[in-house]
Amino acid sequence: MTDKLIKRRFPNPVELAGLLKFRKLILNSRQRRLSKAFTIEDLRNIAKRRTPSEPFDYTDGGADDELSLKRARDAFKKIEFQPRILEDVSDVSLSVDLFGKESKLPFGIAPTGFTRMMHTEGEYAGAVAAKEAGIPFALSTMGTRSIEEVSSVAAEGRNWFQLYMWKDRERSQELIQRAAKAGYETLMVTVDVPVAGNRVRDKRNGMTIPPTLTAKTIVGAIPRVEWWWNFLTTDSLKFASLDSWDGTVAELLDFMFDPTVDIDDLKWIRKQWPGKLIVKGIQTVEDAKRVVDGGADAVLLSNHGGRQLDRAPVPFLLLPEVVREIGKDVPVHVDTGIMSGMDIVASYAQGASFTYIGRAYLYGLMAGGVDGVRKSIQILESEIQRTMKLLGVGDMRELTPQHLKLL
Ligand SMILES: Cc1cc2nc3c(=O)[nH]c(=O)nc-3n(C[C@H](O)[C@H](O)[C@H](O)COP(=O)(O)O)c2cc1C
Repeated sequence: MTDKLIKRRFPNPVELAGLLKFRKLILNSRQRRLSKAFTIEDLRNIAKRRTPSEPFDYTDGGADDELSLKRARDAFKKIEFQPRILEDVSDVSLSVDLFGKESKLPFGIAPTGFTRMMHTEGEYAGAVAAKEAGIPFALSTMGTRSIEEVSSVAAEGRNWFQLYMWKDRERSQELIQRAAKAGYETLMVTVDVPVAGNRVRDKRNGMTIPPTLTAKTIVGAIPRVEWWWNFLTTDSLKFASLDSWDGTVAELLDFMFDPTVDIDDLKWIRKQWPGKLIVKGIQTVEDAKRVVDGGADAVLLSNHGGRQLDRAPVPFLLLPEVVREIGKDVPVHVDTGIMSGMDIVASYAQGASFTYIGRAYLYGLMAGGVDGVRKSIQILESEIQRTMKLLGVGDMRELTPQHLKLL
């Protein structure tokens, strides 16, 4: 009946022409690819198509049943924000104080090993993108560029060095001295790896470092030609910490991870390192207190992105208790499971002083080298900014547990 009330006319060709819009042609194939990513999950999907399954699974996977990783990601999804309305949020500041200096964004890049296996631009891409964004970049002991190489491509960046502790104090000392000499401002000591986690995907894939050519990898290489071309035409993998390694991967890991390391070794490192010291991989309140007594300037709650102990505590859920116990003395940082800017906002509301991304930047890296890492950072930045405005909060430090309910 109402259609009788509506008068019809012929379509107006001028109006019709105005509606026609062609997508802007992006000639650069990397930029074209990245322009289709709106979330970190989109970057992951692109990464999966472009990277051989061994390095992709090495990055994407966790230990054993991968429950630590799943639970960490689920915990972020099980929150409900409590927004405030009618607040002036025309100006939102995402910068935070980090050891007396500004970090332009409330997150940094976590240390990751073998990064040049995910994409040939590896650590350079992470360090350069971090420098441009004004956030810290942590180079892993198992990184595939040397301490000096990274500081030379991102000299004005905030470069940090992550150390796996060894009983071999001479070697540890040598690395600490090299990092200090190259201008690294903070040392991050990882303490959750007495042995390597049980990465079942890597076992199933028959993963080796560098990847070996089998019939399966050759078939998988066909749609991933760029990765192989990059891999075969650039210098071979070497490690941040070692000039060369003659042994097998298993021997390398046995050497890197030392089950005999204890709190006295941490105290020893504290004495060697002149800068700030973060202890990474804390999973209980008691250990948080212990490492603060051992000289930590900050504690990083982390279960290594679910790559070590499976069924481990969820770092995000551990935050309030740890912050209550030691938050007055030292800042409490957090990582594991962050896939969105909303996860970062939620972490600050739970009391975190800083956050880190591991896979969220590696997916960008695999999707498009340094431009992909820039894209990861941009996606997170815009998600944080929008969430803050929708929550009615103008500054990261104004976030409180009142902005959050755990469902
Ligand atoms: C591929 C990969 C390699 C990693 N290598 C290291 C490492 O060498 N040293 C370290 O302390 N943590 C390492 N981590 C753990 C990260 O520093 C970080 O704790 C973790 O990725 C955070 O979880 P997320 O990936 O969910 O963000 C690695 C993580 C990934 C994904």
